[in-house]
Amino acid sequence: MATLPKHLFEHKQKSNKKPMLRPTPHTKGTKKLYIKTYGCQMNVYDTQRMADALAPEGYVHVEQADGADMVILNTCHIREKAAEKIYSELGRIRLMVDKNNKNVAEGQETKPIIAVAGCVAQAEGREIMRRAPIVDMVFGPQSYHKLPEMLGKIANGQRKVLDTDFPTEDKFDSLPAANPTNIIARGVTAFLTIQEGCDKFCTFCVVPYTRGAEYSRSIARILNEAQNLVNNGVREITLLGQNVNAYHGQDDAGNAVNLAGLMTALDTIEGLARIRYTTSHPNDMDQALIDIHANQKSAMPYLHLPVQSGSNAILTAMNRRHSRESYIKVIERLRASRPDIALSGDFIIGFPGETDDDFEATLDLVRQVTYSQAYSFKYSSRPGTSAANLTNQVDDEVKTKRLAILQVLLNQQQRQFNQNTVGATLDILFERSGREDGQLIGRSPYLQPVYVDAPTEMIGQIRPVYIESLGNFALKGNLAS
Ligand code: SAH
Ligand code: SF4
Ligand code: F3S
Repeated sequence: MATLPKHLFEHKQKSNKKPMLRPTPHTKGTKKLYIKTYGCQMNVYDTQRMADALAPEGYVHVEQADGADMVILNTCHIREKAAEKIYSELGRIRLMVDKNNKNVAEGQETKPIIAVAGCVAQAEGREIMRRAPIVDMVFGPQSYHKLPEMLGKIANGQRKVLDTDFPTEDKFDSLPAANPTNIIARGVTAFLTIQEGCDKFCTFCVVPYTRGAEYSRSIARILNEAQNLVNNGVREITLLGQNVNAYHGQDDAGNAVNLAGLMTALDTIEGLARIRYTTSHPNDMDQALIDIHANQKSAMPYLHLPVQSGSNAILTAMNRRHSRESYIKVIERLRASRPDIALSGDFIIGFPGETDDDFEATLDLVRQVTYSQAYSFKYSSRPGTSAANLTNQVDDEVKTKRLAILQVLLNQQQRQFNQNTVGATLDILFERSGREDGQLIGRSPYLQPVYVDAPTEMIGQIRPVYIESLGNFALKGNLAS
């Protein structure tokens, strides 16, 4: 565990005999809610659901912590750095509270309700409470539906609320639907969690501990939520799950439905033009799902399919349960079904025991597959995971060097992929205004951002765009007639 600036949380208590500041009791009417989101897309989705759960309580989402009545940090535990950020952010909030109370008469001090949610909350709830006395509430991802109840406890004078249980009831059953105003404000693309948790236990990963066992939502609930999104202007939905392609929900008759079945059902929603899904595991890429990419127009030709390493020895040590060869086989089947499919991946560099040869095998796999984009990370030892007990850790210097080499290769491939689309005409879904006047940003079917001169009214529309050039960061195109 990293050393963190403890004084930020504790000096006030030591140097000041006053009792600890309590959250200012809220009156009825509009209250300001600030949520800072870390980590993966599921946390982005969860943040929206928390805002939806608090909307009936009068909370309106604002863009900054200063002046908010409630601050929630929605945290990520995946790597050490991600978890560390939370304690420094709590330190900044502490300073903000102190500053706001500097010239205030004694007894008039104010303080927002401060909550830590998400995967760090789930993993180290008590530790957060101990190290950061400014925090009033700590709760894990399975407790978001209980937010109004937890706030009620604080309003009734309870000093601290800690909820990191994995409840037996389904949080999705009790989370309120998003209201139209919130959906419209969030734009024309949306996330929708269909599956949560993981039973795979890769030896490096905290997710099975922070998100719990695999759980799939029912088809009816997902279709309902998707319809509500589309009714309010959403054109593209990204289905989310830690192992989204392990989805196994039930239809109304109680029959099991896989992701291919769900995609087929979603395809019937009029106005839903694009469907994506993430993150997939190579072992769960069944033929029905692969075929969807060939046969269903709304299934986008893009897939994030993490492999982590190109070395079989490392894949075994990671407990990935697939080999380099079986991963490549899946890619070949995908490309046979949809030759233009763009592929993305995740890589972990410097897993314990990784040799130069293992690393070379990863580079070789990347050359063989060719990615349109990818994410790569230095291995970070996580408490509670089985790889944390391995003694053959790789030197940080070696990890840094290898990561840099891999990233040069991945960046080249990304640039080449983008370059290959220059001169093509692609369907672009316009998402929002660009930095310059009269400019919109949209995405191609391959998830590439494209800048186009086009009127604001086109947000939400899909138009053919001629891809003219590739700048330093993004593609530029012109409306094709
Ligand atoms: N469920 C997905 C992704 C889970 S986390 C999957 O199975 O691929 C997202 C990514 O974070 C992982 O794909 C992995 O590349 C990275 N990651 C997870 N744990 C890590 C660790 N301990 N150190 C470094 N990277 C890690
Ligand atoms: Fe983590 Fe592996 Fe599960 Fe992905 S499949 S969430 S990497 S344990
Ligand atoms: Fe992070 Fe939790 Fe997502 S650990 S990556 S926020 S599932």
